[in-house]
Amino acid sequence: MKRAIEHLYIHVPFCAAKCRYCAFHSHPGTEAEMTDYVESIRRDLAAGPPLQLQTIFVGGGTPSILPTARWQQLLTSISPFLHPSNSSEFTIECNPATVDAEKAALWQRAGVNRLSLGVQSFDDDMLAVLGRIHNAAQAADTFHLLRDAGFANLNLDLMFGLPGQTMSQWRATLDRALTLAPEHISAYSLTLEEETAFWGRVTLDEELQWVMYEQLMEMLTTAGYHHYEISNFAKPGRECVHNLAYWQGKDYLGLGPSAVSTIGLRRWTEGGDEEQLTEEIKRIERIAFGLRMLDGIPAELVKDRDISHLLADGLVRWSGDRLQLTHRGLRYADTVAAEFV
Ligand SMILES: C[S@@+](CC[C@H](N)C(=O)[O-])C[C@H]1O[C@@H](n2cnc3c(N)ncnc32)[C@H](O)[C@@H]1O
Ligand code: SF4
Repeated sequence: MKRAIEHLYIHVPFCAAKCRYCAFHSHPGTEAEMTDYVESIRRDLAAGPPLQLQTIFVGGGTPSILPTARWQQLLTSISPFLHPSNSSEFTIECNPATVDAEKAALWQRAGVNRLSLGVQSFDDDMLAVLGRIHNAAQAADTFHLLRDAGFANLNLDLMFGLPGQTMSQWRATLDRALTLAPEHISAYSLTLEEETAFWGRVTLDEELQWVMYEQLMEMLTTAGYHHYEISNFAKPGRECVHNLAYWQGKDYLGLGPSAVSTIGLRRWTEGGDEEQLTEEIKRIERIAFGLRMLDGIPAELVKDRDISHLLADGLVRWSGDRLQLTHRGLRYADTVAAEFV
């Protein structure tokens, strides 16, 4: 019998409105589109490979925008595949403006145990610049609503290096986030993406982004968060198992438009794109993604590579038999990864 897949990603391609920086695959869907979409996911789950899920991540887009009745159907289709030990990590991404107590209670009953809230900033002026559909107070209210519904594992997404953002605004956002005491924080420096409203209109101040990143690391580690991946911080034991599996190059099934699946040496998207991987490509990916984790990668992955220039430039270092990014390497992580490709 084929070995069951342990990691599932479901992409929900709907958002109430497009944020001005975002290139993720999403659009404002009608109720009819959402109904068709949920039906197609249900069919794919029923027809797909065997699943015994250690992790499931419903991302987007804005999964929380689906109406409660659609969620009910989706959860009914997913539940047979959850791990029998009830230990699956089950995450849903939420936009604060699209969550209510009824949905939260439904998720809670269905075994969802991790929610990720797109907050981005606690500054209303910044939220307006980004084109977000909620203000800071709504984000905090939604956080409390989810806590009250019983969720003990919450992530906040934050962004920094935003147009016009000052250090003190960024510090204030971090202070406010820490006051809420989420179990996990993902913090991304703004990147400019083609086909977004920011493209061609916004320029980045890379020096300020780096100083903001240093501030982020200092405040979060001081507050007891474990900095375990370039953009990710967790209270000990609350690291995101789904993302770790992905960065470690484990097999996963992706459902929904634009979602990628990788099983063994086969990679494909729902649209029909297919790529044949080799062991060497997989190894390079394990190096590139693995180095994003602060714990680094085992020496054997790079044993036939000359990395002396990276060591000499202070971008990587040995820690026992693991190769890790240095503090400086965190700034140039993409350049370091490109060296291995
Ligand atoms: C799918 S969204 C999260 C859930 C929900 N759609 C929302 O935005 O509230 C994924 C996250 O990626 C980050 N992100 C998206 N575009 C980005 C960009 N251009 N630069 C940096 N971070 C970005 C944001 O922090 C966002 O919360
Ligand atoms: S950031 Fe989230 S809510 Fe905004 S457009 Fe992207 S996926 Fe949608």
